[in-house]
Amino acid sequence: MSEFHALVPAAGFGARMGNQLPKQYLPLAGKPMIAHALETLCACEEISTVFVVLSPDDTQFTSYDWSHLGDKLQPLFCGGNTRAESVANGLLVSELEPDDWVLVHDAARPCLTQANLHKLITELRDDAVGGILAVPLADTLKRADAHQRIECTEPREKLWQAQTPQMFRAGLLSQALTKCNAVTDDASAIEALGLQPKLVAGDTTNFKVTYPNDIRLAELILKDRK
Ligand code: CTP
Ligand code: MG
Repeated sequence: MSEFHALVPAAGFGARMGNQLPKQYLPLAGKPMIAHALETLCACEEISTVFVVLSPDDTQFTSYDWSHLGDKLQPLFCGGNTRAESVANGLLVSELEPDDWVLVHDAARPCLTQANLHKLITELRDDAVGGILAVPLADTLKRADAHQRIECTEPREKLWQAQTPQMFRAGLLSQALTKCNAVTDDASAIEALGLQPKLVAGDTTNFKVTYPNDIRLAELILKDRK
């Protein structure tokens, strides 16, 4: 039987956040941002291990007490220069069985719900390719010209926003990222192999905390659930 594992890339700096402290460690609703995603993933019964890919220079992660998360948590100090590199390195070091499922989830998405995590696993566990949580685009899309004037309106039909977790067989994902690492998500590397990952509808609360204002929004969402 294939197992399910989570892999959380957390080796970025958070340049767009503009803070000294890497954004995954910024305080959010009473704990470091990364703790929210790790708690959700560790609480999921199907998931056996939660690998956290950290920068080789990271001194922050081990300064927190993670004992409440049990023994699923496994930090790996093998982060790379890009997200794709961090995920690829994490897959190599974790030595998963090629047929095991791996759910790659950004440390910067603290509002993932247990319900959407279960939905993703349930919809994909018998899938040949794997897939991702995503939401159909809501806004009208404008393409800008060089003067920041609207050149045209892009049709929004069939467009989705990619989120994480992104769930693939460990062997396939590792192979895909080795072949093609100039990608901003895992699905893109799988697509480059000519495969078509499934879009599993999640919801917009699972957004990626990127800019300073996003912290407050994530806090409101998390506090509203309590
Ligand atoms: N990430 C990583 N290794 C990198 C770059 C990013 O593991 N070299 C991780 C981040 O820590 C984050 C996730 O990938 O959890 C999504 O990336 P992003 O939101 O872009 O985070 P940062 O790269 O840290 O932010 P920025 O792009 O603003 O610098
Ligand atoms: Mg980045």
